[in-house]
Amino acid sequence: MKGVSKVYGTLHALSDINLTVNAGDWLSIMGPSGSGKTTMINLIGCMDSPSSGSVILDGHDISRESAASLTRIRRDKIGLIFQQFHLISYLTAVENIMVAQYYHSMPDEGEALEALEKVGLKDRARHLPSQLSGGEQQRVCIARALINSPDILLGDEPTGNLDEENEGIVIDILRTLHNEGATIIVVTHDPEVGDVAQRKIVLEYGKIVQDIDQTRPLDPKESGGRA
Ligand SMILES: Nc1ncnc2c1ncn2[C@@H]1O[C@H](COP(=O)(O)OP(=O)(O)OP(=O)(O)O)[C@@H](O)[C@H]1O
Ligand SMILES: [Mg+2]
Repeated sequence: MKGVSKVYGTLHALSDINLTVNAGDWLSIMGPSGSGKTTMINLIGCMDSPSSGSVILDGHDISRESAASLTRIRRDKIGLIFQQFHLISYLTAVENIMVAQYYHSMPDEGEALEALEKVGLKDRARHLPSQLSGGEQQRVCIARALINSPDILLGDEPTGNLDEENEGIVIDILRTLHNEGATIIVVTHDPEVGDVAQRKIVLEYGKIVQDIDQTRPLDPKESGGRA
């Protein structure tokens, strides 16, 4: 992001943000409610355009793209995990994933089942969202976000509704994806989730007030537990 601002009337949701995230990085975005975190994720995720400044994704300035081409870029490069799960209530877990495949290319049930297996839910494939726990629904969302092998995974409070055990499961999935080369950017209020990232930025009133390098060797034995 180069000199990015997002303004609503007189309110500066983001003010002159300069931020570079390298491919393969894992960044957490923290800060109080209303500080601009979701606004930032929405700009990176091609769901919104800045009032001024440039958002450059993969060497390509996306700040002046049309809505149609933003949709295409999002579909090809980005996986999104929201706090509200946005699952379609009358479709089963596996069908919800196949919808994402449909928008990208071709539904493929075998591949959708594999994605569910990755998040430990193969035996819940035929359940409707209402027949799944919150943690299971969140994992279906992650499977859906992964289905098109996105280079960039964005999460807005991806563990916001989860208990500690499910939070640990989600963190482990993110860790695996990061080890496989994905770039991960996660908004969170949870210090434990924020701490797993290599780098943490803190927003206040639409500005970056802290930028912390958290790199440290990760013990592979730790992957079943929490850092
Ligand atoms: N569409 C909009 N119209 C007007 N103001 C908006 C709009 N979207 C966001 N804002 C304002 O911009 C500011 C930043 O909002 P944002 O959603 O980015 O905050 P946040 O850091 O994600 O907060 P939270 O932790 O509560 O989710 C807030 O003051 C919010 O009220
Ligand atoms: Mg938010």
